[in-house]
Amino acid sequence: MGREVILTSEEITAICKDIAAKLDDRFASENIKAPIIIGVLKGSLNFMMDLIKEMKTEIMTDYIQVSSYSGTNSTGAVILKKDLSLDITDRTIVIVEDVIDTGLTMQYLTGYLQEKHNPKNIIIVSLFDKLYLRKTDLHVDYTGKVLTENKFLVGYGLDYNELSRNVPYVYVATPEDVNHWNKLLEEIK
Ligand code: IMP
Ligand code: MG
Repeated sequence: MGREVILTSEEITAICKDIAAKLDDRFASENIKAPIIIGVLKGSLNFMMDLIKEMKTEIMTDYIQVSSYSGTNSTGAVILKKDLSLDITDRTIVIVEDVIDTGLTMQYLTGYLQEKHNPKNIIIVSLFDKLYLRKTDLHVDYTGKVLTENKFLVGYGLDYNELSRNVPYVYVATPEDVNHWNKLLEEIK
């Protein structure tokens, strides 16, 4: 049985080109100089790398890491694991995420960055939006694909306990996949 593919690599390329063009236009029209593109580690890395390659604006990059997930369920609690390395004070930042779900992670992140680092403006980009699971009134500026069903996705940065990030497309993890990964995780313990 084939995998249920949610985004092929061709569709991902099209999304990256589209969002990159919109960001370039916005930076030009709002005269934003050297925006800082911030990847939320590790899930957004694949997407961020492809997205910035399509951008023509002079940008800077940085990374932040938080954790809120264990297995396939959101724990609700967000912990900061790695802070930024650049000074973003009075700069426009673009936060790049893989999936926004309840919105709790992004709400924590924007709150933290605003309070601690005082950027001029925050733009939010996410490859996926699980709008139906939202628990916050978070505004996402640019979304690759809005999902309407509760499915746990893996591939292209999205993981199941760190596995499957290297697959070049996004697909739905089946119970068989999860069994297989759990066995593998047992074996390497
Ligand atoms: P939120 O805090 O509930 O919005 O959860 C967002 C975080 O959960 C993101 O950083 C994602 O990495 C992770 N996440 C949500 N849905 C999925 C999924 O289907 N596969 C992998 N990770 C997910
Ligand atoms: Mg994530």
